[in-house]
This record gives sequence, C-alpha cells and structure tokens, in this order.
Amino acid sequence: MPRVIGCVVGARPNFMKMAPLLRALERYKDLRTVLIHTGQHYDAQLSDVFFQDLEMRRPDVHLGVGSGTHGQQTARVLEAIEAELSRAIAEHRPLDRLLVVGDVNSTMAAALAAAKLQIPVAHVEAGLRSFDRTMPEEVNRLVTDVIADQLFVSEPSGMENLRREGKPPEQMFLVGNVMIDTLRSLLPKVQPRETLRRLGMDFEEYGVVTVHRPSNVDRAETLGPLLKVLAEVGNAIPILFPIHPRTQARIREFGLEGLLRYEGERKRGLIPLPPLGYRDFLALTSSAKVVITDSGGLQEESTALGIPCLTLRPNTERPITVEEGTSTLVGSDADRLRSLLEDVLRGRYKEGRCPELWDGHAAERIAAILLG
Ligand code: UD1
Repeated sequence: MPRVIGCVVGARPNFMKMAPLLRALERYKDLRTVLIHTGQHYDAQLSDVFFQDLEMRRPDVHLGVGSGTHGQQTARVLEAIEAELSRAIAEHRPLDRLLVVGDVNSTMAAALAAAKLQIPVAHVEAGLRSFDRTMPEEVNRLVTDVIADQLFVSEPSGMENLRREGKPPEQMFLVGNVMIDTLRSLLPKVQPRETLRRLGMDFEEYGVVTVHRPSNVDRAETLGPLLKVLAEVGNAIPILFPIHPRTQARIREFGLEGLLRYEGERKRGLIPLPPLGYRDFLALTSSAKVVITDSGGLQEESTALGIPCLTLRPNTERPITVEEGTSTLVGSDADRLRSLLEDVLRGRYKEGRCPELWDGHAAERIAAILLG
C-alpha cells in the first residue's frame, strides 16, 4: 500500500507554500497525497485564484469552515478535520502523516486534531518566533511546533528557537523557504507592464502597500495616520494598494475612503485595488521601487527580490529579512514610515542579500526527508 500524506491548506498564505510541496511529493511513486482545504479563506480572490495561478490541483476534501472569532474558527476546523481523519481511519485508509504549513488558525487546529488521533505531524515553516503573544499567529506557531514531530525550518533563528524550547535535534531540519520556491518558479512567467496595463495603469515607478493585521487596521488612530502618510507619498510616487477584506471594512467604518484615489492624468495617488492573485501580485512587487507591508510572507518575498521592504510591525518572526535582507521594522509609526520612504526614494536605503537555502529547492529537500 502506498503511504498517504494529508496536506492542509486554509488561508491565502498557505497556498504558495503547499503548491511546491505537492509537486515535490507527487514525484514519489509509492506515495499518495490528500489535499484538504479547511475553507478559512473562501472568497474567489483570497482562495480560488491561487489554485489557478499556482497550477495546484483542486482540494480532495473541502471543510468549508469560513470566518468567525478565533475560538469559533479553530473549533470548527478541529471538529471538521477530526471527523475527516477519523473517517479515513475507520475506512482502513489512515493517513501516515499530516503536513501543515505556516501559522494560520487552520494550521494549528489541523495539527491538534491529528496529534490527538496519533497521526504524526510535520510542520513547514517551523520555529519562527516574534516573541509577541498579542499576535494570534505566534500562539499558532508555538502550539503547532509543540505538537509536530518533524519541523522544517526556513532560517537559522528558527533552529535556535526550537533548540531553546527543547525540541530534539533529530526532529529539526533547516531546509530553506518553500514560498521562495514558488516565487522562483513563477518569476520568469510574470509581466509587470502587462499586469499594470490590465489594471488600467502605466507607471515606470511605483510602490506597493498591503496592510491587514488587526494591530494596524482595527483602530482609526493607527490606520488613519498610516494611510495619510501613504496618500501624501502618493503625490510623489504612485502607491498601489490591494486591499484585504478586513481592511476594506475598517476603511469604510472609519470614513477613510477619501484618502484613496487615483489621479490618472498625473499618474499619482494611493490607488485602491481589489486583492490580487499570486501572479499579478508578484508581477507588481517584482518591479516595485518599495514595498510597505505587515505581511510575514511579503517580508520574505521582498528580501528574495532585493526590493526595499518597510515592515509595519514592531517585531518580526523572520529576523533574517532585517539582518540580511531588505526589510526594516517601522512599527505603526507614521512619522518613521514617512522618513524611511524618503530615504528609499532618495536612494539612501540599505542593500540586502538573499539568505542561504532560499534557492527554489526547499520543497524537494522536505520531500526527500519525509520519504527517507
Ligand atoms: C489570516 C491569517 C493571517 C494571514 C491572513 C492572510 C489567522 C489567525 N490569520 O488572517 O495570519 O496573514 O489570513 O490573508 O489565521 N474574509 C473574507 N473572505 C474570506 C476570508 C475572510 O471576506 O475568504 C474576511 C471576513 O470578514 C473575516 C476576516 O476577513 O472575518 C478575517 O478573516 P480570517 O480568516 O479570520 O483572518 P485574516 O485576517 O484573513
């Protein structure tokens, strides 16, 4: 009987991590993969478009859990995935292992359900720590790593963290960054100018901003000043702003829509866009002058692309992007953001380099270890 590995995805940042893993695993003849989508993200723009862009097969199982509070969402994934895994056991086709990626609620809940059913768990992107438990993802990372018995790590800080937490060395593997596997495989296929034209724009130079974390968007006193600085800088260089649904709702609630505008004639403004698919977004970021973000993944992608990244967070679980890469921590401080943007636009910003093992082959290394 072939071995069976369950592969869990739930929210947007999971898809680009799982796609190369599935491809690497599918090369092994004596292995079957079962792709499970929890349904944490369900909008076409946050989910379906990624399956197309990443040429990923449709999920074998869709749990349809949807949105809710953290407790509700975690509980729904836990319940639904436990039922699915138990059914597989009852039908004598049990999983040999569950593979989870990243740090979203679906990651933690799926790992927990598997551990209780004594299904071994492998965690890809293990060991990252912001040491900030006000971040829901930090709690997810801690819980998932305690449960997992194979930990695949993207940067040396992750190995140190796991060592300090007492994880046995034989369970930890520094393998590089699967998300950068996806970036490297699709970068040659994207066309920035074509994407811009399709969005009705034609710029030589521009910045890209994404912001969706509760700590930045849930209070008008934080979101307002950040958007004001970006609107102001948008007078010097256009800033493209694909907006996450949570952020869109807050902008409306706080009456900040007036800051978003596209002055087509002058080619200026803080320009609102819908959330974009993987290829369009990579096309835009790959030729951006600067990226401004609170996303974890985009800090890494900017570092791999060598593009300045002003990170709207007080800390990061991915310190290599600051120490070796192109990222600088800005917090939610609008004045600091303004001054760093000036530095970038005047060519006074640091250069970075791409970390070791972010070479496009992390998924192959993981597959070899999983099947070794
Ligand atoms: C989740 C992850 C976060 C990741 C982000 C990427 C957790 C704790 N957070 O945050 O780490 O950076 O995804 O996008 O898992 N919504 C929609 N359509 C959808 C899904 C959500 O409109 O398809 C709206 C709903 O109003 C929902 C809100 O977005 O309540 C938040 O969604 P949720 O999945 O709870 O977290 P994200 O903020 O997306």
